Amino acid sequence: MITSAIVGGTGYTGKYILEFCNKHPNISEFEIFANKSAQKTIHEIFPGLVGEVENKTIKSILDLDLSFDVYFFALPRGESLKTIPHICNANKKVIDLGADFRLDSKEAFLNTYQLEHPAPLYLKEKNYGLAELNNTYNYNLIANPGCYPTVALLSIIPFVKNYFNNILSISTVAYSGLSGAGKKTSKDLLFSENYNNVKAYNIGTHRHEVEIAQEINKFSCDINYSLTTHLLPVFSGIYSTTIIDIAENIPQNSVLDYYKNQYKNAAFVRLRKNPPELKWVIGTNYCDLNIMSVNKKIIITAAIDNLIKGASGQAIQNMNKLFGWKESLGLKDFKEELQNV
Ligand SMILES: NC(=O)c1ccc[n+]([C@@H]2O[C@H](COP(=O)([O-])OP(=O)(O)OC[C@H]3O[C@@H](n4cnc5c(N)ncnc54)[C@H](OP(=O)(O)O)[C@@H]3O)[C@@H](O)[C@H]2O)c1
Repeated sequence: MITSAIVGGTGYTGKYILEFCNKHPNISEFEIFANKSAQKTIHEIFPGLVGEVENKTIKSILDLDLSFDVYFFALPRGESLKTIPHICNANKKVIDLGADFRLDSKEAFLNTYQLEHPAPLYLKEKNYGLAELNNTYNYNLIANPGCYPTVALLSIIPFVKNYFNNILSISTVAYSGLSGAGKKTSKDLLFSENYNNVKAYNIGTHRHEVEIAQEINKFSCDINYSLTTHLLPVFSGIYSTTIIDIAENIPQNSVLDYYKNQYKNAAFVRLRKNPPELKWVIGTNYCDLNIMSVNKKIIITAAIDNLIKGASGQAIQNMNKLFGWKESLGLKDFKEELQNV
């Protein structure tokens, strides 16, 4: 049995982490750390968890110590990097849900986030935790992928690994629920701005584009990649359509058999005969994918819950892998439990 600290446990992704930790068979104790919510109780922040989770007091991040076996960080960009290096230096296991350690170099981090990285060693000494496609867990620090990168890379990487010589360009058009931006308030995220509405944002400048391109280019250099993101007037969920332009047609059966083989042991990727629907995956850790080969294009539609598969659920998968446990431990029965709440 282990203990966990959930830093940022009062946010959207932190709430799921705390629910997963609460039910995980190998976690005996957990504590929540936050900023403005410190000294409040879990039930004050999340009244829906009364009867589900013990009513602990939320601690200040200033009181975070080195007594835990694993640390989940779910803080806004630029906050985790102030604390994680100290925890890593003490040889503790850390899973960061944010972007502070996802890019591989300090130059890429500075260009993308306009921030000097204070601990560039850990940009290199970390594992990028795309759980289904990464089996190397040789560092204590896991950078959990972003939500768009999770759905895009699960769509793209198998194809790039096998057919890289045939690729002309790759583009993803994706739609995210409003919780993707966290709990912070801004006019663009208001219900009244988004209800009955859809809009694109950050065209050509979305930071997740850099992260996705970084991971694609580990398998094939200089593939032309673009990500176009939209806000969708739902609470959670990401729906993405990736189009891979190819030079030579590939038969539908070949590409499908290849994906089936790639994901044959994946507990949380479901290959679908038809394009998935968002509602199939909400409240779950699944990524549903449909792959079609049409007129020199591979068209992959995919859906995830951004707060679970795109964040907290994948973080639990990563913890399970880091400790050598079954990848799906504490995750498989989650949807039924949610429905009972
Ligand atoms: N939302 C998503 O779909 C999603 C998906 C993948 C990854 N992520 C990443 O995961 C991280 C968390 O996202 P979120 O959506 O859960 O954010 P959120 O809802 O805004 O929650 C942020 C959490 O961080 C705490 N916090 C803020 N500033 C802090 C500080 N200076 N010191 C200590 N705690 C502080 C907040 O505590 P208080 O209550 O005390 O303010 C809250 O618990 C972000 O890096 C985000 O990019 C999010």
